[in-house]
Parts: sequence; C-alpha cells; structure tokens
Amino acid sequence: MDHFQRNAQGVLAAEEVSLKDIAKEYGTPTFVYAKATIERHVRVLREGVKDVPHSLCYAIKANSNLAILETLAGLGCDFDAVSIGEFVQALKAGAKPEQVILSGVGKRDDEMRSALKWGARYICVESIEELKALEQIACHEKVCAPVAVRVNPDVDAKTHPYIATGLKQNKFGVAWNQVHELYRWGQERSALSLIGVTCHIGSQLTTMDPFIDAAKRIGVLAGELLERGVPLRDVGMGGGLGIPYTYENPPTPKEYGQALSDILKPLGLNLVLEPGRVIVGNAGILLAKVVRIKEGSERVFVILDAGMNDLIRPALYQATHRLEKVEVSAANHAVVDVVGPICESADTFLEQESLGSMECGDLVALRSSGAYASVMASHYNGRPHVAEILVDGKRAQLIKKRESIADLWRGEFHLQGDAADSTYPLETGSIDDE
Ligand code: LLP
Repeated sequence: MDHFQRNAQGVLAAEEVSLKDIAKEYGTPTFVYAKATIERHVRVLREGVKDVPHSLCYAIKANSNLAILETLAGLGCDFDAVSIGEFVQALKAGAKPEQVILSGVGKRDDEMRSALKWGARYICVESIEELKALEQIACHEKVCAPVAVRVNPDVDAKTHPYIATGLKQNKFGVAWNQVHELYRWGQERSALSLIGVTCHIGSQLTTMDPFIDAAKRIGVLAGELLERGVPLRDVGMGGGLGIPYTYENPPTPKEYGQALSDILKPLGLNLVLEPGRVIVGNAGILLAKVVRIKEGSERVFVILDAGMNDLIRPALYQATHRLEKVEVSAANHAVVDVVGPICESADTFLEQESLGSMECGDLVALRSSGAYASVMASHYNGRPHVAEILVDGKRAQLIKKRESIADLWRGEFHLQGDAADSTYPLETGSIDDE
C-alpha cells in the first residue's frame, strides 16, 4: 500500500499534496516521496519479526537521500552500507557507527580500516582473502574486529539474473564448502570476533520459497557454528523482498518476517534484515511531463522529459514501472510507446501500452520509483540530476535541489589546467528558468 491516491478533484496526490502543485512549484522531472509509506513499511516489517530480537538495517543503496535516511533513523532503523561513502551518509544522517554494517564484495582496506576505527556494528566479509586483510588491519590498529561472514547458500532467487546473488556462480559470499574452514581460521585469531553469519540471495524476490530454503540452510549452519563455539550474536538474511510494480504478488512484509522468524527463532540469535526496496520502492514516484507526442509510421511515441538517466531500471532490468496520468483524462485509449529523450532506444519506459489520451504538457507519474532510481541516476546526455521532494501530510519539502547545467562540469578542468567556474559561456541564463 502507498500514499499516492487521487484527491477529491481527481488529481493524483502524494499524501495530501497534489502532484500538480508540486510540478508547478518545483518543475519536472522530480522524484516525490511519501513519508507515510516509508513509515508504514517499516512498521509492517517490524510486525513480522516481532517474535525475535531483530535489527532492521536499511540498505542505503536503495535510496540514500539524507532526509530519507534521517526518516529511517528516526524510525529506529540501523543501516547497511556497501562503501565508505554510504557509511558516512548514514553518519551524516545521525546514525551512530555501531548502528552501521559495512558490507560489499570488494571492500578496500582503507574502507575496512575506517569502519573499524569508527566502531562499525560489524564488517561483513565475503572471502577468506578479505578476512585475512581485515585481520591484518585489526592487528595494526590494535583492535578486535567484529565480523559477520556472508555465505553463498547456492539458492536460486528466481529473479532477474542481474540481481540474483545467491548462486554459486555469483561473485557474492563465501562458497558453502569453504565456510567452516574460514570460521576455523578466524576463531584462532584474537583480532577477530566472529559474531555473525549472513546471506543475501538477490533482490525483487516475489516468492517465499527461496528465502525459506536459504533460511533453513543458514539456520543449520549457524547451529553448527554455535556448537563449535563460534560466538555468534547475529544471523542475517540480507534484503530482497520484492514489491508489486505491476501484477507481481510478493509475500507481504509481515508474512516474510514471520516465516524467517519461525525458521531462525530456535537459534536464539538476533535476526538482521537489510531491507531496501520494500521500504522505499513504492514510497516514491518520478513526476514527469510529456514534451512531445510523435506519430511514427508504425508507432505513436509519447516523449517524456524524464529519461533513462533519471530512471534506468526499465533499460537495465526490463523493469516495468506503472504510469499514471496526474489528472484523469477522457477514456479514449491509444496504444503508445512511452519514451525518454535520451539517444538510446533502450530509453523506453513502456512499449505498446494502452493509455488514456495524452497531450503535450500532461503530467505523469512513473510509480514505484523510490528505490534504485535517484541513486542510479547519471548526467548522461548532459542532463542535470533532478529535484527530490518529501511529502509529509500537507507539507512538501525540497530534499534535493535540482542541479543546474553548471553542475555538469563541476570539478572539471579546462585543457589549460584552470578549474571550470560555474558561469555559462553565452547568454544562456534563461535555460534553467524553464
Ligand atoms: N543487502 C545486500 C547485501 C544487498 O546486496 C542488497 C541489494 C540489499 C541488502 C537490499 O536488497 P533489497 O531489499 O533492496 O532487495 N538496482 C537493482 C537492485 C540491486 C540490489 C542490490 N543489492 C534494481 O533496481 O532492481
């Protein structure tokens, strides 16, 4: 459930703020988030895991806007960071280092050193090679490193291959047949404290079975490790719960949480979840405007002012994001392709869709754009990053300023070596005002 509904005038609104008003004030394209949806998703997920001690470590990679992270910190979430950049983003949002996990398949030594010195909750290692490097760092820093080990349970997540991570051919996690040896090695090192075992099998999972298979495998493994005297405190199941983009019918957060708790409860450990998409995915839309309707020889193209540089998921994962007109229109439906302005044919949001009549200037919302959208945006085709708005009840707050054209060359140097300033070369001042 989300908080993007039509108001009494039939205009699509984020909570109590009409998207038409947001477009008028802040322009398009713009990401708009509903705070109430974020709050609701955290609440329902917590309900699912209420029978076990747990930590919800929000996966920062899904959406790292500071105001979103602050919202989640305010809801009692901890954080999962996959780089030192994300770690610092969490700290900037008010999290304490002991609330932040450092994960990632290719952590640099300097990243592990910083996380260790700051006092991360744990460092999640993904190989024996990485564990050895971490041990050296911990010895050098004269500290004992809190460590969790991400194992690869070789479970098929049945999701898009680009976001499946739990099969043995994937680069992620410690191979199942190496796990015991790794813990044995780690147990003998005084600079390491092996407090966790985790996995993450993929993202946008829409059935419970792969989670159940993975949880059972991890449960058995954790039991064996405890028996061998590994001082486990945490058992982690990563993230991955899917959301309905169109017709998917994933388990509810409550069903998901309960099923995992039921399997893992007997261990008596703290259950760590790293949800990303399920928290923020349906809490955001990308508000865009139709710039042109183009009648091709075979197809009609509805060209938006948002492109694959703003929302890459359709181009990268063949994902479908539902499109809704902000104002309801006459019912005469036309079959169209909805595309962006980028010079790539992959810049297509919807192909051969039957939509209500469209005109230039119409506002549309690309739904389910709260996760893996703004964070994956680029400047491709000379397009500044767009504005972001967080709505809370009647209040719409700017949480990211739209970039200007000068941001496209920020940090660059002229051929002669001098830093590029933010002035425009010609009389271009009106471009930003459009
Ligand atoms: N934990 C780990 C170790 C992860 O690798 C991920 C996501 C998560 C948690 C959060 O997973 P979630 O709950 O959001 O499914 N860009 C892709 C998704 C990539 C997910 C990468 N890892 C997309 O747009 O679908």
